[in-house]
Amino acid sequence: MTMMETEPGRDVIDLLLEQHDEIRSLFSELRRAQGAAKEELFEDLVRLLAVHETAEETVVHPVARRELESGEQVVDQRLEEEDGAKKELADLYDMGVDHPEFDRRLRAFEADVIQHVTKEEAEEFLRLCGAVDLDTLRRMAGALRAAEAAAPTRPRRHAPESPVGNLVTGPPLALFDRVRDAVREWREKNPDDR
Ligand SMILES: [Fe+2]
Ligand SMILES: [Fe+2]
Repeated sequence: MTMMETEPGRDVIDLLLEQHDEIRSLFSELRRAQGAAKEELFEDLVRLLAVHETAEETVVHPVARRELESGEQVVDQRLEEEDGAKKELADLYDMGVDHPEFDRRLRAFEADVIQHVTKEEAEEFLRLCGAVDLDTLRRMAGALRAAEAAAPTRPRRHAPESPVGNLVTGPPLALFDRVRDAVREWREKNPDDR
């Protein structure tokens, strides 16, 4: 998985779309992975979803709710899906990748998340590009940088110094909370970007 390019100048929608692609490819890699590699990919997924969904929830959805026609309904549906996904991710984490039910549950989770991101793209992101000026969208990318900074990145498995199967993210809900605190702090320091 390549890390998101968060250099200044890119707007929040570009970065979120790039993360959607990463989410899709992590799920497809997870279908084929086994053992330690599977555990690591699942952890990458937990981390990416914590960063991504928290930045959306805290910074992007509120703007969509305010700026888009029927924004209330669009955002309420996405928030409900995100809440369900967070709980399912926590259950999957508790279950562990070797549990006999893990693959079946992960497939169902994958279907739900793919449907969620596809709706987000069509009903929210593309419309936001037309409704919000580019400078604002660029400033909003700061929320993703704050989220990234709050979520530790596991050393690459194939790097010589990195231990295998070293879980660094911890339980998903604790990670989501930590990222949310960081994004809220960013938002308080950047009140124009709400
Ligand atoms: Fe989302
Ligand atoms: Fe998303």
